[in-house]
Amino acid sequence: MAHKVRTVGVLTSGGDAPGMNAAIRAVVRTALSKGLNVRGIRRGYQGLLNEEIINMNARDVSDIIHRGGTILQTARCAEMRTEEGQIEAAGILRKYGIDGLVVIGGDGSFAGAQKLANLGINTIGIPGTIDLDIACTEYTIGFDTAVNTAMEAIDKVRDTSTSHERCSIIEVMGRDAGWLALWCGIANGAERIIMPEEHDYDEDAIVEDIRRNRERGKQHYIIINAEGIGDSLNMAKRIEERTGMETRATILGHMQRGGNPTCRDRVMASIMGAKAVELLKEGKSNRVIGIQQGQYIDVDINEALQMEKSIPQFEYEIAKMLAL
Ligand code: ADP
Ligand code: F6P
Repeated sequence: MAHKVRTVGVLTSGGDAPGMNAAIRAVVRTALSKGLNVRGIRRGYQGLLNEEIINMNARDVSDIIHRGGTILQTARCAEMRTEEGQIEAAGILRKYGIDGLVVIGGDGSFAGAQKLANLGINTIGIPGTIDLDIACTEYTIGFDTAVNTAMEAIDKVRDTSTSHERCSIIEVMGRDAGWLALWCGIANGAERIIMPEEHDYDEDAIVEDIRRNRERGKQHYIIINAEGIGDSLNMAKRIEERTGMETRATILGHMQRGGNPTCRDRVMASIMGAKAVELLKEGKSNRVIGIQQGQYIDVDINEALQMEKSIPQFEYEIAKMLAL
């Protein structure tokens, strides 16, 4: 049974995302303003199991709202996936008097929070991932910054691709999800978007399309390839061989996860951080904060982890049509 909390813990887990610092700052300052104690847990669940726990005050989160990454650092932790690890983690939280925990991360991190909630710790999840792949929310902290970073990088590749009349395959992150690929594909006016959600990946069709584009007088051919498809280097070799068009692959990689968060990421993270503490203060537990139809909502973690999210097919079709 959930109870009202006196000491809030906060951790970041999984891949970092720009805006996580703004969320940490909001959690710390909201908790303090409501008369609660705050403890920061470093290095995600791994740090929790190693008891890397620090007291936090308002000054500890000064000068971080504009910074990428996470001041608490983050980690992936195999032990937390085991029942023994989860029981140990709940015991450590109790030992440090932490009766409410805010977890900033993705679905995997929320699964950890769910296990801790089952063991009597009040937990609230805040969606933080550049992948936008959390089903219960239309927004995840970090996506806006990452997609803008990728878009600007792709603009630069496009300039050189046009000058050399090349085909450029640009691989963006997203794990198994194609959101970054879809948005960059539209924003950068790519000729082709390749992503895991579309099962029509057909290299013959791409080769044919490149030939037709050259006939139409297009000076480059930009392909945005999602990490979930990968293989960009080999793809570039094959396409060059088959079309005779010079082809280069660029894998944007971790640069997409860094950099100062955009205004949207800072504001969303700040509001979600504050809301997380408000929920704990109300005695709520095992919930994830999200945005649905433009409104802030909170959803039961068990339900959130069951939900599925798919790429809107019409957006993909529009991207294809605009590449004419
Ligand atoms: P994300 O939170 O971005 O989805 P991961 O999937 O890497 O990132 O998960 C982050 C961490 O959350 C994992 O390293 C692990 O410690 C914890 N975690 C993931 N899945 C579970 C699970 N089923 N049960 C408990 N903890 C989990
Ligand atoms: O979840 C964020 C993300 O950047 C994914 O897009 C990517 O698949 C993964 O993390 C990369 O993880 P790592 O930092 O461990 O290479």
